[in-house]
Amino acid sequence: MKPVLEGTVALITGASSGIGAATATALSAQGAAVALAARRRDRLEGLAAEITGQGGAALVLECDVTDQGQAAAAVERTVAELGRLDTLVNNAGVMLLGPAEGAPLSEWQRMVDLNVLGLLYCAHAALPHLQRAAAGNPRQVADMVNVSSVAGRFARNGNGVYALTKFGIGAFSESLRQELAGKYVRVSLVEPGATATELATHNRPEVLESLRSQFGQRMDASDIADAISYIVTRPRHVAINEMLVRPTEQQR
Ligand SMILES: NC(=O)c1ccc[n+]([C@@H]2O[C@H](COP(=O)([O-])OP(=O)(O)OC[C@H]3O[C@@H](n4cnc5c(N)ncnc54)[C@H](OP(=O)(O)O)[C@@H]3O)[C@@H](O)[C@H]2O)c1
Repeated sequence: MKPVLEGTVALITGASSGIGAATATALSAQGAAVALAARRRDRLEGLAAEITGQGGAALVLECDVTDQGQAAAAVERTVAELGRLDTLVNNAGVMLLGPAEGAPLSEWQRMVDLNVLGLLYCAHAALPHLQRAAAGNPRQVADMVNVSSVAGRFARNGNGVYALTKFGIGAFSESLRQELAGKYVRVSLVEPGATATELATHNRPEVLESLRSQFGQRMDASDIADAISYIVTRPRHVAINEMLVRPTEQQR
């Protein structure tokens, strides 16, 4: 049987580690050619070598998606070199926690720049291409998957600005979903709970220390990649609008 995503192209931001890298591997296994976007070229090249070694096709896109020009160029290079764009996984993100009082404003700026503006720049550049893909073969449907968080549903003491960015992604995704539903561009929101990746390691040491004591059960990045893979492999008439995925023991 033909792989479901054969003949399609997926661009994954934040593909150099964690959920993005696992998603690239999962979508390649479903037959998609994958464009891998992030800043660490060496990581992307390692992943591309793994994917091509398994018979897949991968394009390395070293870029900083907080720069609008680089985000747009990543989308355009994907289409120029792989021929089309059927799936955009807006996954790149940063989570910098701690009390608001006295927080370095640079941390808030980094989160807004990447989690909100970076996602918007990629989405904006991708929209015409996704609509073109949805209008033709092989699938007559296209996907934008936006990676939010449990923090996009529940704000907690110490995660205010991160939650703000993820709540915002939820609002944008739902609005865009309604705008594009008739064009068969599905917009989906994925909200992971605690997942073992590099995400928490970017916090200041004192924040990281307080987080360590809160760490409970964590999922693997491949568990979230499974969810994304499920979403984008549904038949044309089925749209998974939202998926909240927690480790079984996580309560909030
Ligand atoms: N892990 C969790 O528990 C969890 C829970 C809920 C939601 N999430 C969300 O899942 C998404 C992926 O995070 P993760 O857990 O896989 O963490 P991660 O391993 O830290 O991955 C983050 C990715 O974003 C990329 N990135 C950072 N800044 C970038 C920039 N300016 N331009 C392009 N790429 C950039 C990083 O690559 P470079 O550094 O190479 O650029 C990396 O590939 C995030 O949106 C996060 O908020 C994670």
